Parts: sequence; C-alpha cells; structure tokens
Amino acid sequence: MKIIRTARSMAAWSERLRREGVTIGFVPTMGALHDGHRSLIRAARLRCDALVVSIFVNPAQFSPTEDLSAYPRPIARDRALCREEGVDVCFEPTAQAMYPGGFQTIVTVPALARRWEGEARPHHFAGVATVVTKLFGMVRPHLALFGQKDYQQAALIRQLAHDLNLGVAIQVRQTVRERDGLAMSSRNIYLSADERRIAPLLSQALRAGRQMIEGGMSDVAASEQIMRQTIEQASTIHVEYLAVCDQDSLEPLSVVMDRAVLLGAVRIGSVRLIDNLLVNMPGRKRRATH
Ligand code: PAF
Repeated sequence: MKIIRTARSMAAWSERLRREGVTIGFVPTMGALHDGHRSLIRAARLRCDALVVSIFVNPAQFSPTEDLSAYPRPIARDRALCREEGVDVCFEPTAQAMYPGGFQTIVTVPALARRWEGEARPHHFAGVATVVTKLFGMVRPHLALFGQKDYQQAALIRQLAHDLNLGVAIQVRQTVRERDGLAMSSRNIYLSADERRIAPLLSQALRAGRQMIEGGMSDVAASEQIMRQTIEQASTIHVEYLAVCDQDSLEPLSVVMDRAVLLGAVRIGSVRLIDNLLVNMPGRKRRATH
C-alpha cells in the first residue's frame, strides 16, 4: 500500500490510472477506522479496480469548542486495517497542504445544511462540503462511498457532486451497528461504561418510531412522542432532536405517506450521538390516494 501525502502526488497517481482506464474507488475518512469504514472499503474494493482511502482530521468541520485536538488518531492501526482490506493508497494530506496560506473558497449547500446537524454545528457542513470537494479534486474518483449514519452529510455530498458536475458517483451504504443496535462511530470510544450502556436507546427510539409508522400511524407527532419517551427512560440522555423528515429535502413531515427518514441526535454527558432510520412503504401512497 502506498502512502501519499501531497495533493500533487495524489492527482498524478489518479491521472495515470485514469488514462489506463482503471476505475478508482474512494472512501474519505477522518481515521479512527471501525467496522463501518471497513464495510465501505470492502464495498468499494468489489466495485472498483483501484481503491483510495483518505485519512484527514479536517479542522474546518470542527467548531472551536469541539474535540479537534482530542480526536482519536490511531494512524498505525488505521493503516493496518487499510492494508488488510487491500487498499492501494492511503492519502494522508497535512492541514497545511489542504488549507495553505491564502486559501479562501468555501463550498456550501445551504438548504440541506440548514436544519438538524447544521443547526447544532453551524460551520460543520461548510467544512465537510469544502474538504470533500477538495478531496474529490485530488483523488479524482469514479465512485465515492459514505455511511448512512451521517445521513445529512451524505445527502449534502450527493447534492454537491451533482450540482458541481464533479463526475463522481456517490454511494451511501447502510449503517453498521454494534450488537445492541448502537451505530458505529469513531466517537463511541468517548462513552464511559455507564454512558455506553444507555447509548443504544437512540437506535431503540428510532426503531419504535419506525414501527409505529409502519403499523399505520401516519401522524408524525405520535411517532416523535414515542421516540422521545423511549429516550427519556434514562435521565442522563438529552434529546437534541428527533424528527420525521422527507428523505430528500430533510424538511420535517407532518404526515408520512410512503417514505421518510427518522433523524435523531442526543447528548450523553459530553458525547453527541446521531443516528437515523429509513421508512420505505411502497404501496402505502397508492392506497392513501385512492
Ligand atoms: O464522515 C467523515 O468522516 C467526514 O465528515 C468526511 C466525509 C471524511 C469529511 O471530513
């Protein structure tokens, strides 16, 4: 496996392969790789001839009060996982290479970034959209894969790749979960043993909400209430938002017809957890409109 650190060497490697007709798959990460990343890497490996994983803890997507300096950086372990999974290039640019003096351009996707994570973390999505656009420019992938756990992020990246004609196909893969339902995340290691025990309440709440909708309850307020009650079984979890939304616009719904996404964010101590579940009920719309 090759380790590349500069934008220029990365672009040169990709250009050479593209000229040879090789398809390039790409999994952008901030490192601290877990089985969720592993499943993205495996899916990309199956679909493309060559595979690049980037490891870059992007300062632009952290606010001054967030965990940038404490963010886990187990680089030896991350490289070992990449090697095990047959990654061809681990792209590890420095912050200086990404944001050299004089850097000015910011990419924003205003409507999709407005609510939910965008409200809780006001500069986060501009940081994500900017770095992902830059990474696409350096890696020049044919296909890039993202996890559904960061649903809003994935929606926004899909939109920017389309709007800016970046020539990269975006694939979003199902969230990988621990046995008790907790969505895998690099930040789960921050949870104390007690916090870890109650953390699955978020996915349980989303499942309860989905069950209610699938059981015929189209009134969103009732599903939101059951989700909140599930979480509030533990007094040490604080709900930031629990919402039933349109899968594409992420605007809140008041009634679910045939599809929706349930989005949730909670805080346990100093740790923020997010998760989501899709509701797809083909046929429901037809019945409702006839
Ligand atoms: O999901 C992440 O790990 C990051 O937001 C990403 C997409 C690698 C951009 O820094």
